[in-house]
Amino acid sequence: MRATAIAPSNIAFIKYWGNLDQELRLPYNASLSMTLDACTTTTTVAFEAGLEGDVVDVDGRALDATGTARVTAQLDRVRALSGIAQHARVTSANAFPMGTGIASSASAFAALTLAATRAAGLDLAERELSALARCGSGSAARSVPGGFVLWHAAPTHEGSFAESLAPPEHWDLRDIVAVVSRAHKAVGSTSGHELATTSPFFAPRLFGLHARLDAVRNAVLARDLAALGPLVEAEALELHAVAMTSQPPLRYWAPATIALLDCVVRWRADGLPAYFTLDAGPNVHLLCEGAHADELERLVRALPEVVDAYHNRPSVGAHPVAAP
Ligand code: DP6
Repeated sequence: MRATAIAPSNIAFIKYWGNLDQELRLPYNASLSMTLDACTTTTTVAFEAGLEGDVVDVDGRALDATGTARVTAQLDRVRALSGIAQHARVTSANAFPMGTGIASSASAFAALTLAATRAAGLDLAERELSALARCGSGSAARSVPGGFVLWHAAPTHEGSFAESLAPPEHWDLRDIVAVVSRAHKAVGSTSGHELATTSPFFAPRLFGLHARLDAVRNAVLARDLAALGPLVEAEALELHAVAMTSQPPLRYWAPATIALLDCVVRWRADGLPAYFTLDAGPNVHLLCEGAHADELERLVRALPEVVDAYHNRPSVGAHPVAAP
């Protein structure tokens, strides 16, 4: 009745933004990401007799009521599948700050879903686990498989799962996350998905995405950063153009975000092949190949705007670990 799992976060090269079905988190578009080995969540789930509700502790503190309700909703799905009636004690630890644009909900719900299904005696196939994790947080679907991952858009629960396009060792691509703020973001991505279609740029974005997804997939498979980088930057800017023009508008950038984007362009002009991407937060993800990663990390850490940095390689997917 007790199990522990670890799951990586992931950075999307093609972004998930907007749901066909908000409840099931069925996205409008397919997305593509890389898992992140330094940004993980480790979660233990224990179903216990005598609990009056689920008890959730994250990084040593009791989770607030809204967060706990979201965890309970996911545990309810596992209880429905397994027939378990007991509440659970959930203990979770992140290797990075929550709610700051490193997709903590992705690793959190992937680890929770794997630990909860194992604690409930279920052994789901990877695609079933991915679809189930998706119900907790969309991007968590992409934290179940390892390496470079494609999440399918489909109108059904079963059809919208993620799978690995290539294993972690396929390409020594690095993601250096430049943390410019540790503050919890004001508007979570769930609200962002709800507002996405209010932007006049949402429909044109969807129209162009198939071609961009194909090009990104080909660039990843060919390990071609010169092709991938400009596509990923355009995609990140487009996501934020949609967010900034939603009603009400969502602006995730801080002045430091823009300073970092300027730096990347300058470093590239100076001969360092690095590219940026952003999630729903102010922190900047910098992509480069292994040969340039130490230099890039040194440059990033030297910037006055940067309070911390996480150096990620592609990771294996979510997996069970021995209980702590
Ligand atoms: C901008 O998966 O965090 O990072 O399903 O509401 O939990 P919920 O949203 P979430 O959205 C991620 C949005 C994004 C882009 C991406 O990771 O694809």
